[in-house]
Amino acid sequence: MSRPRRFYIETWGCQMNELDSQRMAGQLMQQGILPVRAPEEADIILLNSCSVREKAEQKVYSRLGEYRLLKRDRGERGELLIGLCGCVAQQEGERALARVPDLDFVLGPARVGELQEVVAKRRAGERVVATGFPESRQYDVDAVSRHGEYKGMVTIIEGCNKNCTFCIVPKTRGPERSRPMAEILREVHHLVDYGFQEIELLGQTVNHWREPGGEEDFADLLDRVASIPGVQRLRFVTSYPRDFTPRMVEQVGRHANIAPYLHLPVQSGSDRVLRRMGRGYTRSEYLDLVSQLRRARPDLALSTDLIVGFPGETEDDFEQTLELVREVGFAVVYAFKYSPRPGTAAPRLDDAVAAEVADERLQRLFALQEKIQRGINEGLIGREFEVIVTGWGKQPGTQTGRTPCHRVIHFETGPDPVPLGGTTRVQVETAFPYSLLGRRLSVPSEVPA
Ligand code: SAH
Ligand code: F3S
Repeated sequence: MSRPRRFYIETWGCQMNELDSQRMAGQLMQQGILPVRAPEEADIILLNSCSVREKAEQKVYSRLGEYRLLKRDRGERGELLIGLCGCVAQQEGERALARVPDLDFVLGPARVGELQEVVAKRRAGERVVATGFPESRQYDVDAVSRHGEYKGMVTIIEGCNKNCTFCIVPKTRGPERSRPMAEILREVHHLVDYGFQEIELLGQTVNHWREPGGEEDFADLLDRVASIPGVQRLRFVTSYPRDFTPRMVEQVGRHANIAPYLHLPVQSGSDRVLRRMGRGYTRSEYLDLVSQLRRARPDLALSTDLIVGFPGETEDDFEQTLELVREVGFAVVYAFKYSPRPGTAAPRLDDAVAAEVADERLQRLFALQEKIQRGINEGLIGREFEVIVTGWGKQPGTQTGRTPCHRVIHFETGPDPVPLGGTTRVQVETAFPYSLLGRRLSVPSEVPA
């Protein structure tokens, strides 16, 4: 088998998958294998899949089918390796190899660090299924290809022990494991040295981090990371409402570089549904946490996840979700129609909600949220933000960035564009539900040399 020289990674799903792809890219690049933008040009294709929502498995198999055709077409241009990675890899394992004869290997999320070995074994003729959750995991922080211009992601806790009745993640990412604080701090220091402006701490229940064998919890870690000089903006995702303690709220209030933006999935506004979801908090406990957070940090923007059409959700339950959405005033809502996932408890619950009913509720929720978002964003007109520049706009001479509260903002750059990852002050002039338009206030050329 010839030696692969170019790779292509397709990434679906959450930030953890994004980071896993960066880790896999890094391992390949250490071998002198280079990234390409199109699968047709690659000698190795990795599909980093997500199994959280509807039709995940079908989507994976249909994409693998397309890659198979590429392999068939390859002819004398040499061998093409195809690997299935991510949560569907963990879930499907051997089944994927059996179903897709041209698939070369299957690599689960807890085995990302073993990519090089798996590729080497394949070259030696073995079709490997590397899944499961080994006690010791390879986590080579220096091999990560961090292709984000400004954001460095750091996993602090892997897996999840919560077992919300709808969720497949504990099965695909395994039991919870916190990384030691010293390792995390070292990685953040590296990222700051490399010039990353924003640090994003990652975990399925990021605020459930605990020092392995120690006393410290996420409040202590937040304090330590936020205190590292050069951490300009600190974010963390995803917080589990029940695990958010007053000490953590206090840290969010204390450190100006902790971004005033928090993703706090509520899933439903009805206590009855929350109980059936096994979330372990009530609507009023969630609302109370929101008020504590806003007291600590009045400029805080909140986003959330909501599931619509969970088994047994009545019109009244759904109304309570709408009411909660009105009451909190989220900056962003990620809403999903419930979909039964293999091996989870919720499909066994009675009273499935008809698909048309769930669709209609989802539309009502989107319409309400759009109105709310428009209102909130219009309230930002005239405000000035320190914007981290993340990309180029569609119009010539425009750029795009993120405000500290994580909103997308477009602005005219003037004669001196800001280097990607740089910051500039922008004043909001126009507001849309999903973005802002502003005027850049600081232009480097106006600064005397
Ligand atoms: N702790 C992770 C959860 C990952 S799943 C996090 O909050 O990011 C991300 C979101 O997908 C969940 O918050 C939930 O709203 C949604 N989701 C998970 N399982 C689902 C299912 N079976 N049907 C519909 N949406 C689901
Ligand atoms: Fe899933 Fe609940 Fe964990 S949503 S990732 S089981 S916190």
